[in-house]
Amino acid sequence: MTEFKRRRRRLMRLMGKDSIAILPTAPAMTRSRDVEHPYRPDSDFYYLTGFTEPESVAVLRPSHKEGEYLLFCRERDPKKELWNGLRAGLEGAKKHYGADEALTIGKLNEALPQMLESCERVYYPIGHHPELDRLMPEWIAAIRAKSRSGIKGPREIHALDLILHEMRLFKGAAEIEAMRIAAVIAAEGHKRMMRACKPGMPEYRLESEFLHECATRGARQAAYPAIVGGGANACILHYTENNEVLRDGDLVLIDAGCEYGCYASDITRTFPVNGVFSPVQRELYQLVLDAQHAAIAEVRPGNPCNAPHEAAVRVLAKGMIKLELLKGLLSRLLKKEGYKKFFMHRTSHWLGMDVHDVGAYLKDEKPRVLQPGMVLTIEPGLYIPRECKEVAKKWRGIGIRIEDDVLVTEEGHEILSTAAPKEIHEIEALMAS
Ligand code: GLY
Ligand code: MN
Ligand code: MN
Repeated sequence: MTEFKRRRRRLMRLMGKDSIAILPTAPAMTRSRDVEHPYRPDSDFYYLTGFTEPESVAVLRPSHKEGEYLLFCRERDPKKELWNGLRAGLEGAKKHYGADEALTIGKLNEALPQMLESCERVYYPIGHHPELDRLMPEWIAAIRAKSRSGIKGPREIHALDLILHEMRLFKGAAEIEAMRIAAVIAAEGHKRMMRACKPGMPEYRLESEFLHECATRGARQAAYPAIVGGGANACILHYTENNEVLRDGDLVLIDAGCEYGCYASDITRTFPVNGVFSPVQRELYQLVLDAQHAAIAEVRPGNPCNAPHEAAVRVLAKGMIKLELLKGLLSRLLKKEGYKKFFMHRTSHWLGMDVHDVGAYLKDEKPRVLQPGMVLTIEPGLYIPRECKEVAKKWRGIGIRIEDDVLVTEEGHEILSTAAPKEIHEIEALMAS
């Protein structure tokens, strides 16, 4: 709770006095009829509050005499709690979650316009919560209608998410610890899949091994739906059907990460279904691995955030010319982005509470500089479609990606997902064991 309080303080300092921040959490979502999806709070909301119940709205008012942090939440209700679990209630919000004041969520519509009256600036996540987007202009119009009585109301509206996302981009010690755990758990899941894999298994069998390992270790939610693509399915970037049979002689690409304490891991490994890389698979795999090593080497403070991508495409393009997958001069292929034919996505994205985490990639229209506390993925790949007639037959239908989660440190970087093997000899040794 001290960590959440520190974040609220920091945000309030950035907002200044005479301002108010309003931040709702995510709604509970129906899956079908009366069954809901597992509940997950909104990342921005959780980042500031640590509160995990739906139907909650946080309000921050820097230096306000009646308290700076107000939480609208559900009241206690013994009948509903008997069926659906305990609630913190208004007292719990204050006692356990550090709210200076707590009000029932049913009072939001009545209480918020009053709070807005005395503020000059309003911060809220514009465009993210349809109900709030609809109500905010109504509330402000109602205040304006009272202007003859001397009430002025807010004059500026700011996107709260932009400030918060800049904060979230730089991970503190507790966040890094959660991310280390999320990465280690997912890495153990990948190892388990390597050990379990046998020709003839359905792809979903590997997914189940991953989910079992993660859930056993306390990470019951995946960070995103797992991709388990055997053979040419690996060339479909977001393949999630995971229902085909894994064939002897094919590779399998698995992109799977878990969530721990609301922090994500995002790991991809590609390995031979039968445990041994063929000479052709070995050549292509080593090229992607070399590109990944080159990209990771660029992760250090002061480097632009696209430096890993630039390094990866240089190695990949050079290798593709050598293997006769592409023709032409390296400089021209790089300039014209000819490598995109077989490597069509970026090498990195920010990672944090969300798998494609928040935070701007550009500053003053240029790739921003890497700084300690940022976490990004490094995930080069090569995908040669089965029907690609321009390349030798031996390469067709192979898809490879290798993805790690990398923290920028003062000295350079730390690979959080290093427990999942990726060198050819390590994978073969683990699969043989
Ligand atoms: N798993 C999604 C990604 O790698 O970006
Ligand atoms: Mn991934
Ligand atoms: Mn990723």
